[in-house]
Amino acid sequence: MNDPFYLTDDQRAIRDLARKIARERIAPHAAHYDETEQYPEESMKAILESGLFGIWVPEEWGGSDMGCLALSVVTEEIAWACAATATQYLDQPLGGLPILLAGSDEHKKRYLPRLATGELLAAYSLSEPGAGSDAAGLRTTAVREGDRYVLNGSKQWCTNGDHADVVVVFATVDPTKRAKGITAFLVDKDTPGFSIGKKEKKMGIRASPTVALHFTDCAVPVAQRLGAEGEGFKIAMQTLDITRPATGAMAVGIGQAALDAAVGYAKERQQFGQAIAAFQGIQFMLADMAMQVHAARLMVHHAARQVDVGLRGNTYEASMAKCWAGDAAMKVATDAVQVFGGYGYTREYPVERFMRDAKIMQIYEGTSQIQRVIIARELLGG
Ligand code: CAA
Repeated sequence: MNDPFYLTDDQRAIRDLARKIARERIAPHAAHYDETEQYPEESMKAILESGLFGIWVPEEWGGSDMGCLALSVVTEEIAWACAATATQYLDQPLGGLPILLAGSDEHKKRYLPRLATGELLAAYSLSEPGAGSDAAGLRTTAVREGDRYVLNGSKQWCTNGDHADVVVVFATVDPTKRAKGITAFLVDKDTPGFSIGKKEKKMGIRASPTVALHFTDCAVPVAQRLGAEGEGFKIAMQTLDITRPATGAMAVGIGQAALDAAVGYAKERQQFGQAIAAFQGIQFMLADMAMQVHAARLMVHHAARQVDVGLRGNTYEASMAKCWAGDAAMKVATDAVQVFGGYGYTREYPVERFMRDAKIMQIYEGTSQIQRVIIARELLGG
């Protein structure tokens, strides 16, 4: 199979480095972290030590500025080994990109260099108990009192919220204005009135912590506001336009891992006196799985390259890539379990984990249904 010929030497080199780290230092821990639901400490350490953290940060702010395609190929490799670790890895740009997109020089200077090295961890908090797909319906309030805003409310499903040093929190200055009231704030973890709530017990990506956040008369200086009042929703969406291709890449990594496992098993498993790979029924399944993964990867790379060449308005392709790749990962991982048969249903083999991990790819960063809404709106102009 050909390597994507369009990758630059730098992109190929960082992909190969990520592949080596993922296979040697992340994959061996993945089943353990999944089973114990522990924070993937060793895997994150491997990523930090390899310098993969700051590749999305511009050089002037301490990163290596490699762009969205590089971020995507690295994320795919990490997800091949451990989707929970990949989720943690991608949470850094998810929480950091709003600073890059809308922060002042002061914000950038304060946070980005330390996010690039991993000295600080970031998180992004948009969703609430009553506002998942309908993000503009969020209810956490921000009331201006002199030189500060007072935040009250609760957020939900915040990846890494309990480990993050700084959380980008989206709150509303006027709930009746929906999207136009939403405002973004940088909330440092030790801010009085900010507390971590319930940690979710999840089906998959179990080593990646997902928590609720609570704000009780939490005073945030006006200087910690990102952009102007009412600009928060656009900042949230522009961030997702960049991270959705990379999330698609995570799904590609899971799909590729499931395909690799299925191919390996089909060649070894003997039934009716021959390897099951000799049966055309299995061959067709594997070929379909390979096409799903390949198409997903191409869509992800296309959407990521649009970001890298500075194309605004990549929403359509970002949603397509994220949606296709998420659905493909789910289908391919489910089929991998089928190829493994009864063994695939046990925790002795990794494919049941791939199937559980794949499911979130159709849910977080906008469900597959929301991506279709976005694609249809772009098509229909509404
Ligand atoms: N870029 C810039 N601006 C955008 C935009 C984009 N991609 N998308 C929308 N906007 C703007 C619109 O132009 C509009 O502005 P104007 O009024 O000035 O024209 C404004 O934002 C409101 O947009 P809509 O009217 O389209 O808003 P909506 O309420 O109809 O919702 C939606 C749109 C696409 C459904 C959106 O709510 C959405 O994406 N929902 C899914 C939310 C989501 O992905 N949540 C995941 C959270 S992150 C996560 O999961 C990670 C984790 O930690 C687990």
